Amino acid sequence: MELGLPNATLVERRDVTASLARFFVVPDREPWTSFEPGQFTNLGLLDTETPEIPTRLVRRAYSLVSTPGVLPLEFYVRRVRGGSLSERLFALRPGARLWLDERVYGRLTCEPLPPERAALFVASGTGVAPFMSMLRAYASAGRWTRAVLVESVREASEFGYRDELEALARERSEFTWLPTVTGGGEHDGWIGRRGRIQTWLEPASFAASTRVALRPDALHAFLCGNPEMIEAVGGLLGELGFRPHSRRAPGEVHVERYW
Ligand SMILES: Cc1cc2nc3c(=O)[nH]c(=O)nc-3n(C[C@H](O)[C@H](O)[C@H](O)COP(=O)(O)OP(=O)(O)OC[C@H]3O[C@@H](n4cnc5c(N)ncnc54)[C@H](O)[C@@H]3O)c2cc1C
Ligand SMILES: NC(=O)c1ccc[n+]([C@@H]2O[C@H](COP(=O)([O-])OP(=O)(O)OC[C@H]3O[C@@H](n4cnc5c(N)ncnc54)[C@H](OP(=O)(O)O)[C@@H]3O)[C@@H](O)[C@H]2O)c1
Repeated sequence: MELGLPNATLVERRDVTASLARFFVVPDREPWTSFEPGQFTNLGLLDTETPEIPTRLVRRAYSLVSTPGVLPLEFYVRRVRGGSLSERLFALRPGARLWLDERVYGRLTCEPLPPERAALFVASGTGVAPFMSMLRAYASAGRWTRAVLVESVREASEFGYRDELEALARERSEFTWLPTVTGGGEHDGWIGRRGRIQTWLEPASFAASTRVALRPDALHAFLCGNPEMIEAVGGLLGELGFRPHSRRAPGEVHVERYW
């Protein structure tokens, strides 16, 4: 059982759609914990179902979108229908108090990426969150030879960082954003790519649109979001010779499952 008391304030919420929003949170204690881009922490609210335990929390993991040392902390949250915490987060207004873990977690970081390799980031839904932190931190720092973000959402309106990513792609010739939409209709105004991520990882077309060979000696792949997407894309990369990464057995595929 997790116990705690509110120790942070929601200072801003930017709604992307009715069920997708960017949350900006300031901790009471500054400076906040140091972290690596790509890591996550926990947000929580007091559990209203157990008034007999007034400090009991409902808490869940959320990737940090913001970069180390920058406040407010930013999170990108999907409202899950019937979800215990996310529904309640969407009821919060600026000024609301919430619980923020003081620790950070996770191994989906750029640490294993050799500097002479390219980075392939693959995101479904809010899985783009850790990659925003990495791109913000490293895009101008020469951390990779090239970086490609393949991002899949159901509706074009769900690209919550579209302006920032389009601007980054204009500014940094070594960065390519490959957004793809899987739902919506023909008349939704989206004139870009459609279809699941796998369509855009066909090696010849990938190399043509990114100038990166989809080979394990050329890049490391970072996958985040829906576990079925991770399974499917991980399998596809495995057929191309990529190996899953672990501390004991270094490889080129790094993953974080959101559920
Ligand atoms: C390491 C890690 C990092 C995470 N980072 C983020 C993040 O940055 N943004 C974010 O929105 N969520 C993130 N999540 C998911 C988050 O922790 C919660 O699971 C999610 O907010 C649902 O919690 P809930 O209490 O509302 O739903 P619950 O009552 O716990 O129901 C959970 C169910 O909701 C579904 N679900 C969970 N997460 C999502 C999601 N993001 N999109 C669609 N369906 C989902 C799954 O079917 C899951 O079984 C992360 C999870 C992990 C493990
Ligand atoms: N499962 C469903 O059909 C469905 C439909 C509507 C809403 N929802 C619910 O709506 C909420 C929001 O979901 P979300 O859109 O943020 O996240 P999500 O379900 O992870 O979808 C985000 C993107 O990931 C893609 N994706 C999912 N599974 C994949 C796979 N195996 N291989 C490749 N791509 C895959 C989706 O494509 P696709 O559109 O092709 O799946 C979509 O473009 C969740 O609670 C979800 O359960 C689910």
